[in-house]
Amino acid sequence: MNAFGLTQIGLILLCTTTISSLQCNHLHLQQQKVVKNSLQLLDKMGKKFPQQCLREKMSFRFPEQVLKPRQKETVKVAIEEIFQHIFDIFSKNLTLAAWDEKALEQFQNGLYRQIEQLEACVIKKQTHYFRSKEPSRLKLRKYFQKVDCFLQDKQHNMCSWEISRAEMRRCLQLIDKVMRKLNN
Ligand SMILES: *[C@@H]1O[C@H](CO)[C@@H](O)[C@H](O)[C@H]1NC(C)=O
Repeated sequence: MNAFGLTQIGLILLCTTTISSLQCNHLHLQQQKVVKNSLQLLDKMGKKFPQQCLREKMSFRFPEQVLKPRQKETVKVAIEEIFQHIFDIFSKNLTLAAWDEKALEQFQNGLYRQIEQLEACVIKKQTHYFRSKEPSRLKLRKYFQKVDCFLQDKQHNMCSWEISRAEMRRCLQLIDKVMRKLNN
């Protein structure tokens, strides 16, 4: 690569950093808004939990301790990871869920935009986080793997989606509670 190319990359990096540092100041407010919107959209995309799915219910046990570190920054990164996992779950085969397409799309887009922005904001701290908080990461991965395996076992049928939607709802509600405490 020639010197001109390198300068261009340098400029792009510089601009990206400037833009994101402006947006990063209000990150916690945005995170809070995304959680609120996502909760509303989760409710909107489907109906009440179907009675016939009750007997298939299972407990996934969200690792609440990942949201309890003393540093705000660590909690923010954990929340980012959770957003990413939820986005991945809701990118699986949703045919049999038969949810409201528009609400579902808004839900996915909202999470996706927030993930992109968060990534830009915490990118520098991430290396540190991943090294020191590997156990948290692992716990989150295990939890979401359980949800994913459950969906796969049930071949992404309607009940497995309704159960997962209820579970993701609880997860977002917990984040909402934690963020309220954090921002006060
Ligand atoms: C998604 O699931 C439906 C219903 O089980 C199936 O017909 C369809 O082929 C699946 N789509 C993909 C991309 O796997």
